[in-house]
Amino acid sequence: MDTRIDEVADRIFRLSTFVPDIGPTGFTFNQYLIDDEEPLLFHTGPRAMFPLVSEAIATVTSLDRLRWITFGHVEADECGSMNEFLGAAPDAKVAHGTLGCMVSINDLADRLPVPLADGEVIELGDHRVRHIDTPHVPHGWEARLLFEETTNTLLCGDLFTQLGDPPAISTEDIVGPASQAEDIFGYSALSPKTGPTIRSLADLAPTTLAVMHGSCFAGDGAMALLTLADEYDARIAAARA
Ligand SMILES: [Fe+2]
Ligand SMILES: [Fe+2]
Repeated sequence: MDTRIDEVADRIFRLSTFVPDIGPTGFTFNQYLIDDEEPLLFHTGPRAMFPLVSEAIATVTSLDRLRWITFGHVEADECGSMNEFLGAAPDAKVAHGTLGCMVSINDLADRLPVPLADGEVIELGDHRVRHIDTPHVPHGWEARLLFEETTNTLLCGDLFTQLGDPPAISTEDIVGPASQAEDIFGYSALSPKTGPTIRSLADLAPTTLAVMHGSCFAGDGAMALLTLADEYDARIAAARA
């Protein structure tokens, strides 16, 4: 395995590792590095990928400059090597939603995390990331996402998960491939709030959707989110019928 590095928005790097034996056509694990005065990592990858991910980061900036370790929810691919990164970067802090800190991360992280209120912004230098609580979307009580305001990039985690090893950035439909992945993995926690929560993210009008598994999307992110919300509403309606 090796880790591919692509700049998907201004100084926002996608670090992507393809694992061929997951699912029918293999599966990518993407982390995002925002390179700035205070570099931020979104998703750490699992512990087994720490050597690959840290090597990829080091091609952009030295590991010990990392200041913010962030992720969407508590799972190995999201935060498995959180403590390895805290060890490698002495000035780094984990930042997460208040609830995630209280429920899990105060206990799991080797240094106390920084709790963020819904809508709170971290200034990285030229970039600004806004924390958005999305409880149970796509899964996990503590689930949240980040929105980078200067590039209109939504770091959307498992939303729009796609199979295989598609290109780093796509301008094609990603909702169809995401629906196919949902059919196979059934990874989303479906609830009456799923559609409305995804629909509310469309108000951010993102132009880049930075996805954890698969291609990033460049284009009308609001339309993609509204289409995805409709897709989940249809699944919930079908389950009720
Ligand atoms: Fe997840
Ligand atoms: Fe994931």
